[in-house]
Amino acid sequence: MAGNRSAFQDVKLRHRALVDVSGRSTKTMLFGKPSALPMVIAPTGAAGLCWYRGEMALAKAAAAAGIPLTLSTASMTAMETIADHVGGRLWFQLYVWKRRDLSYQIIERAKAAGYEALIVTVDSAVPGNREYNSRNGFALPFNPSPRFLMDVARHPSWTLGVMGRYLTTIGMPKHENYPAEFRSAITAGAAGRRDEMQVDSLNWDDIARFRDMWPGILMLKGVNRIDDALKALTYGVDGIIVSNHGGRNMDSAAATLDVLPEIAGAVGDKCTVILDSGIRRGSDIVKAMALGAKAVLTGRATLYGTAVGGQDGAAKAIDIIKTEMDKTMAYTGCNTVDEISTDIFFNDWRSNQK
Ligand SMILES: Cc1cc2nc3c(=O)[nH]c(=O)nc-3n(C[C@H](O)[C@H](O)[C@H](O)COP(=O)(O)O)c2cc1C
Repeated sequence: MAGNRSAFQDVKLRHRALVDVSGRSTKTMLFGKPSALPMVIAPTGAAGLCWYRGEMALAKAAAAAGIPLTLSTASMTAMETIADHVGGRLWFQLYVWKRRDLSYQIIERAKAAGYEALIVTVDSAVPGNREYNSRNGFALPFNPSPRFLMDVARHPSWTLGVMGRYLTTIGMPKHENYPAEFRSAITAGAAGRRDEMQVDSLNWDDIARFRDMWPGILMLKGVNRIDDALKALTYGVDGIIVSNHGGRNMDSAAATLDVLPEIAGAVGDKCTVILDSGIRRGSDIVKAMALGAKAVLTGRATLYGTAVGGQDGAAKAIDIIKTEMDKTMAYTGCNTVDEISTDIFFNDWRSNQK
């Protein structure tokens, strides 16, 4: 996570003087449709634990801001509920199940619910070794440590406003997008679920099958190599997301900003390249676009806003990032997102390339 951040922080910009930027705009086109800024909400399974119905809060904030939202397979609100209650552009992220028929059921649900895009996460052959989760007893089945219980006691607004609200309305939240037989409460360790979610068998044949099944936009999330990106093109994918899962999976993963230029350069305009992992500021979006991304996903940045203030907090986080992007464009003399290039960089971005 720190590496993702320092890659952004290492890029310094130089302002351009005396350019009329009074007509500037952060607007862009994403897959042929307008977007208020080149930003999409990343899938985060924990949104519903940060806030009561956190996915709904994020989805409404995204729709109001004119940007797409990606709902996670691991979210606690059903994809149909989001589609029924929120307008705007909805994308769905798929975690593939060992029994592929379970994955196909999820894809059919997303298709029936009218999701615009299917994003297959391909960087999670095995679960990340998250020591902080072990230390905090944050595991399934839920096994709270004294430290965890102390944390809960010290945060009464979360305990009452999030968990308390669930318990007095719908009960302990469930992973509503999981296949029916595994849709147990998040605190329960459904028999066999861990085995079924182990997807170290995921491979390119699966992508071919998903392409056949999914008529809409298909993207792979977690592409980090030129050869994978070029291979993805031959499978007819519409977009690739250069991601290292926010630094949550593989130890020593390269920063995504460092691998982006070679991938964007290799695929050119043949598909849409999106970047995530480390976006915290509007200037980060500008840097990613200069290096070839058409848009970015935000995970933590918008989740932090949601955790603090639900829909209003998510809206505030989006607005902060949008304002920062607008200011960075103004300082660097860019009126449109198409004008953003490495010309605005002070230092040589190639210094981190292989
Ligand atoms: C709490 C949390 C939960 C996440 N859950 C998922 C998920 O369910 N599916 C997925 O593909 N990625 C998931 N991710 C990864 C994000 O989609 C995204 O790749 C990452 O957060 C981007 O990095 P950033 O947090 O620095 O913006 C999660 C990330 C976080 C922080």
